[in-house]
Amino acid sequence: MRKHGRAQDEVLAELAGLRERDVPWKRVLNSICTVPHEAALLAGQAALDSNLGDLRIFRGCRAAEQKALALMGDLLGKPDCAGSLVSGGTEANLLAMYVARKRRPDIAQPEIVAGETVHYSLGKVCDLLGIRLRTVALDARFRMRPDAAREAINGNTIALIGTAGSSEFGAVDPIGELAAIAQQHELYFHVDAATGGFIIPFARALGHDLPQFDFSVPGVCSIAMDPHKYGLSIIPAGAVFFRTQELRDSIQLESFFNATPTHHSLIGTRSGAAAAATYAVLETLGFDGYTEITRRNYRVMGYLVERLERQGYRLVAPPQLNIVNVDLPDAVEVMRALEECGWIISVSKRFRHCLRLVVTQHVDEAMVDAFVERLLTIAAPPAY
Ligand SMILES: Cc1ncc(COP(=O)(O)O)c(C=O)c1O
Repeated sequence: MRKHGRAQDEVLAELAGLRERDVPWKRVLNSICTVPHEAALLAGQAALDSNLGDLRIFRGCRAAEQKALALMGDLLGKPDCAGSLVSGGTEANLLAMYVARKRRPDIAQPEIVAGETVHYSLGKVCDLLGIRLRTVALDARFRMRPDAAREAINGNTIALIGTAGSSEFGAVDPIGELAAIAQQHELYFHVDAATGGFIIPFARALGHDLPQFDFSVPGVCSIAMDPHKYGLSIIPAGAVFFRTQELRDSIQLESFFNATPTHHSLIGTRSGAAAAATYAVLETLGFDGYTEITRRNYRVMGYLVERLERQGYRLVAPPQLNIVNVDLPDAVEVMRALEECGWIISVSKRFRHCLRLVVTQHVDEAMVDAFVERLLTIAAPPAY
């Protein structure tokens, strides 16, 4: 650290210069996170000094957090479910598996079963909790196969996980069938809806054929959903919900201060900015506002698909949510070449023939046009 500080203006100017290195959103097609809604940005900025690790001081922020949780619980079909705002999908999945682990202290070598497209955060979670992750086969649309799940369950299985919107494909596992299997085996069933949680309810309202994934499905024990993704809140805003308070309380820890007598999440000192931002965007948009955004995202995605297919590119599967995967044999090279031209897209390390394009709030038709034109100069459609 320097002995004498620098002028604040100079430091801020340096930072502004550093931020210019960030790729502008208009060239970003790999990110599920996007430009937050203005209400979220304003509310978050106003609460940057808060600490939800001290509830004696930040009573108002705490109230905003509770209100945000109640709105999301309502969206998930169970206003009296027990939720926590957390730092993101990773922490939400961790807390859900912590609960699942606590339920079965009798199993010495616990395992969980999930589809091959389970998010890599579950790999971290299993490593931390000493759980073996068993991944099972997918169908042609990259959804977990219930028959494969059934086969993978054994005496050590403590939980089954369904993904409602995989990161790689936006694929939604057959949640109802998986929940029924979990019930038959008396297993804990967690739904990772970090990506799909803020799309599926609105897409269903628009008539898209997507499975229900929330607490209206018997057997769903917990759900992860991220306001900082399609919820348009600021980072870090994740959320985990348990069907009962009892489940949530199974991981309750006492602190030695009165300010937060009990903890239900991993992080102690934590900003209330994301809670305020999440409440602000939920209230500002309401169900109709999110539905309109979802309608728009599907429209732009449809335009992208149409433009790609018209040029002769083929998709690996019809998209369920707002993630498009193009079948390209040399997808990694194409990704690198696009990045050299300033475009950020992604390719899964597991499915290397898929160029993955995410459509979210900052993507519009003009951006799609610019992207497809650029793609054509880099990789002509192959002879499939
Ligand atoms: C399905 C799914 N689960 C979990 C996560 C992890 O979320 P985070 O990066 O917010 O921890 C993601 C992130 O993209 C995701 O798509």
